[in-house]
Amino acid sequence: MAKKSPEQIKAESRGLRGSIAQELTNSDRFFTDEADKLLKFHGIYQQEDRDARKADRTQDHHSMMIRTKLPGGRLTPAQYIAHDEVASKYANGTLRITTRECFQFHGVLKGELRQTMREINEALVTSLGACGDIVRNVMACPAPTADPHRQAVQDYALRLSDALFPKTNAYHQIWLDGQPLIDDSEIDEPLYGRTYLPRKFKIGIAYAGDNCVDVYTHDIGLVALFAEDGALEGFNLLVGGGMGMTHNNDATYARLGDEIGFITPDQVLPVVAAIVTIHRDFGDRENRKHARLKYVLAERGADWFREELAARVGYAVAPLRPMPPFRVDDHLGWHEQGDGRWFLGLHVESGRIIDRGTYRLRSGIRAIVERFQLPVRLTAQQNILLTDIVADDRAALEALLDEYGIRRVENISAMRRAGLACVALPTCGLAITEAERVFPQVISEFEDALEEIGLGDADIAARMTGCPNGCARPYVAEIAFVGRSLDKYTVFLGGNPAGTRLAKPFIDLVPLAQLVPTLRPVLQSYRDDRDPGESFGDFVMRVGLDTLREQVPAEWRTLGAYGD
Ligand code: HEM
Ligand code: SF4
Repeated sequence: MAKKSPEQIKAESRGLRGSIAQELTNSDRFFTDEADKLLKFHGIYQQEDRDARKADRTQDHHSMMIRTKLPGGRLTPAQYIAHDEVASKYANGTLRITTRECFQFHGVLKGELRQTMREINEALVTSLGACGDIVRNVMACPAPTADPHRQAVQDYALRLSDALFPKTNAYHQIWLDGQPLIDDSEIDEPLYGRTYLPRKFKIGIAYAGDNCVDVYTHDIGLVALFAEDGALEGFNLLVGGGMGMTHNNDATYARLGDEIGFITPDQVLPVVAAIVTIHRDFGDRENRKHARLKYVLAERGADWFREELAARVGYAVAPLRPMPPFRVDDHLGWHEQGDGRWFLGLHVESGRIIDRGTYRLRSGIRAIVERFQLPVRLTAQQNILLTDIVADDRAALEALLDEYGIRRVENISAMRRAGLACVALPTCGLAITEAERVFPQVISEFEDALEEIGLGDADIAARMTGCPNGCARPYVAEIAFVGRSLDKYTVFLGGNPAGTRLAKPFIDLVPLAQLVPTLRPVLQSYRDDRDPGESFGDFVMRVGLDTLREQVPAEWRTLGAYGD
């Protein structure tokens, strides 16, 4: 029988059911390919531990990754503790903060999947729509604030998430009810229709001036603008950003969102919903590599898009308003919230909340959240904010940080603070190279090199991914390492610290061990030739990648598919 296309699987899924419930009752450790495609909509990726598979091919090494959906990255104390519990009971004992303000569990066995999903949902957390061809987790700047206008902006993450939530009750029936299945294949999905979206859809909300969510990299970016008295005026609307691309395929590329116009607060829900329908109706349903909204924008143009949007909502959006320049606030360290309480941003290397030797981050955060009953927020840089801390508790909380060996942000280098890495090996089936597991070492090498050449604690944003799909948003970093072939990376340079410019391919097929040594002469040039206050990314673009390329060994200079 011919393999069904993803579109056919969605169309025949009866509201995302497919054969998931039936397959849950068999004794296999894995789902069929068709069920696997639908599981993503439920927030579940079927994976194999690739290390274990290499070591022993006689056994089956399938397990599930579950991603919870946390609009704006927010959790109550009880929800955090529930995540921590699930990590111990069913997953690999770690919690992974994602670059889209969610949590991931890795290593959940199929036989325990339903129970795991139930326990997650008992904490009033869902995973429906965390993956799949649907609106994913809606991100917003997570920094707590007592300013009601800023809170209103953050609340749009919840409001949009609710408004764009799928209507199917398959999730409930499969994971929570455990009842014999009622076939309600007629269920109406007014927004998505039977085939949902051609591809995933991402939304991020920023405040003007703070690009902590990388607002240009989403399908829709909203930039909140405030009047002088602090009131929310509305949002500049960016559309058609996206990171994913494929090596050796010029038809795929990373792209920043186009600046489409300005919308008032009451226009947000209808405009965003209409844009989702534009993606639904115009996105490519034949070729998934070409199915993101960014290609519709790139090929039909921003003017066409404005007209199509106006036709759908019944008015034209206003012209873009001027915005102050962006910078990126990582929200780490102690900050006053404005209501007399404090929040503390803790650095989580590559987003992995883990206990390792004397560094007991996971136990420490759990102990702190339990003792002080602190709500938690996850950042787009894979870090965690402990919030609503009363001033009198600060000293006791600091003592707990020491007890659990948790580093203060003051003791972490600027490069480590700014770095991001995707999960990659061993769980990601698409990974070509390592990322999360080797990135801390790469940063250590950078720290040493910067020290030796006299650049000290230079603040350079570097990111690493195990393949070109771009989950850690590498293409807006100042330095990006993108997995290319076994242990070898393509190096991109020239994003800016504000995350508003794309990096360009610099050198290719560089072995992991050579990444930092190869860039060393470029760092030396930066030391010698930078303008006062100039960032590394700006320096690279001013001097030019071609000039800088002369400084690296010839063997890495051939850009192959990336050549221009
Ligand atoms: C274009 C194709 C893409 C594919 C096929 C893809 C696939 C995947 C897979 C399989 C994982 C799971 C890895 C694991 O946990 O073992 C993952 C993780 C993730 N992806 Fe993607 N991804 C793509 C692009 C992107 C992009 C462009 C973004 C956002 C800019 C993104 C955001 C994430 C996030 C937030 C995670 C969670 C882990 C992390 O934070 O590193 N993905 N992706
Ligand atoms: S960038 Fe590639 S290797 Fe990394 S998590 Fe995403 S799909 Fe996997």
